[in-house]
Amino acid sequence: MYFPHTSWKRLTRSLGFKRRTEERADRYSQITDRIRSLRAARIMEIGTHEGSTALRMIKAAQEKNATVLFAGFDLFEDMTAELYERDPSARHRAPSLEKVRRKLAPTGADIRLFRGSSCETVPAARRELPMMDIVFIDGSHLLADIEADWRNIQPYLHERSVVFFDDYWRDGWNGDFSVGCTSLVDRLAASGTHRVEVLPITKKLPRPWGTLSIQIAAVSRR
Ligand SMILES: C[S@@+](CC[C@H](N)C(=O)[O-])C[C@H]1O[C@@H](n2cnc3c(N)ncnc32)[C@H](O)[C@@H]1O
Repeated sequence: MYFPHTSWKRLTRSLGFKRRTEERADRYSQITDRIRSLRAARIMEIGTHEGSTALRMIKAAQEKNATVLFAGFDLFEDMTAELYERDPSARHRAPSLEKVRRKLAPTGADIRLFRGSSCETVPAARRELPMMDIVFIDGSHLLADIEADWRNIQPYLHERSVVFFDDYWRDGWNGDFSVGCTSLVDRLAASGTHRVEVLPITKKLPRPWGTLSIQIAAVSRR
């Protein structure tokens, strides 16, 4: 059977493959796959940035749930030049909270966005947020901040929650482990209290000293 190129999308869509074929198989697809398999409906992201991964996570959750809650934390407009300089892996600044809200609103999910340092906003938001099925930690790259995020999400975790950490850099930031989540994740793995998986899809980025290998770690309670 011959299907001209232009009809391929229409055919796969009619067969129900639309979402899966459109999703890029980058490292974030490992999170969205897990969202689907766990039928996760309540998602937290620390470091929402432009909302691109947020959008993908929400859509994946909506495949299995009528109601989805997304809680996003970012500095948004509160990012300062000083904070930006302190974080060696900071990208360009996040857009305004309102811009990200407008991007996520068409999903129809319950979107809650929190502006400010996650060290303060995550504990404060516990008053108004339920426990989470998925937490994605991808805010500040300073280890001390990531450790604070890990501590501050504990009241949000139930027995089956899965926490994803971006920026598992096997060789550190040019050997420096005071940034990135690597030493925290390795400690959790060694402690035996948590199941820790370093997910296989690896992004390799050229850096002045060589190559930075970025992976995501998935952590859940044993
Ligand atoms: C690497 S980006 C996140 C990318 C996003 N998770 C995605 O996949 O599209 C990191 C974000 O963390 C935010 N950030 C950095 N330090 C933070 C802090 N202390 N509290 C909250 N957000 C922070 C930055 O503003 C930036 O938008």
